[in-house]
Amino acid sequence: MTTFETITVKHRGAVAVLTINRPDKLNALNTQVHMEAVAALDELKHDDTVRVVVLTGAGEKSFVAGADIREFEERTPVTQRNNFHESTLFNSVDAFPKPVIAMVNGFCLGGGNEVALACDIRICSETARFSQPEINLGLIPGGGGTQRLTRLVGEGRAMEIIMTGDMIDAETALKFGLINHIYPAAELEAKTMELANKIAEKAPIALQLVKEAVKFASRSNLDEGLRREVDLFAICFSTEDKKEGVSAFLEKRKPVFKGK
Ligand code: COA
Repeated sequence: MTTFETITVKHRGAVAVLTINRPDKLNALNTQVHMEAVAALDELKHDDTVRVVVLTGAGEKSFVAGADIREFEERTPVTQRNNFHESTLFNSVDAFPKPVIAMVNGFCLGGGNEVALACDIRICSETARFSQPEINLGLIPGGGGTQRLTRLVGEGRAMEIIMTGDMIDAETALKFGLINHIYPAAELEAKTMELANKIAEKAPIALQLVKEAVKFASRSNLDEGLRREVDLFAICFSTEDKKEGVSAFLEKRKPVFKGK
């Protein structure tokens, strides 16, 4: 694996932990973080030993405190548009063919919340705080915040979060459906790894198809979605893992999935 400056990647069995590593800047997303994290995900995508990715931020204070505001100073509309139409962490996480879990260990703001929203599952510590504060800079969210947040929590709640820029606490985020679980900070990593390892034991191709099918639900109408699901379900019947899963059930043993 390539060595990076602003992120780290650690392999823990079948789980890769990708950590955004600028704790002195609360892990704010600058161009280098985007480029390195996108490159790392590209490597992890092709690494068959990796079945699940956990995405987190270094230090105890912050997951990601948003886009690096310093970079906004000199940015023109054209460079900004090109930046976000090119490969961003948001798009790479969204399109990543394996499950990605956001482990939110503190501030989860702006682009940080948008990265978490692009993940498949969000788990946070009791100390986590969430917001889309762009409005305070005279901006709107540009990394999927207006779209993914609205789909996850509904229009009224998304409007309030984005229009006020206020931070919400972990309990409120749970109530809104923005996150899946809250744990005490000391247990966050162990609980996240427990979930990641559980998912990593499942059939990799089926997991990829789950991701495609579930994401399609919010991008299509019901008829298109149901048709897509039937097709993806049928694809599972071409895999060795489906044979293994069915045989294991009938033979009353635990399946061993190979991703084939
Ligand atoms: N972009 C660039 N730098 C950031 C940043 C961001 N989004 N968020 C934090 N930082 C930097 C600070 O400038 C500071 O750097 P410095 O030590 O060189 O001055 C360092 O991270 C620590 O942040 P600080 O503000 O001192 O911590 P705090 O505990 O007082 O406040 C926040 C924490 C999260 C409330 C505050 O940093 C903040 O509001 N950040 C911006 C959040 C935001 O608007 N994000 C969306 C951008 S679109």
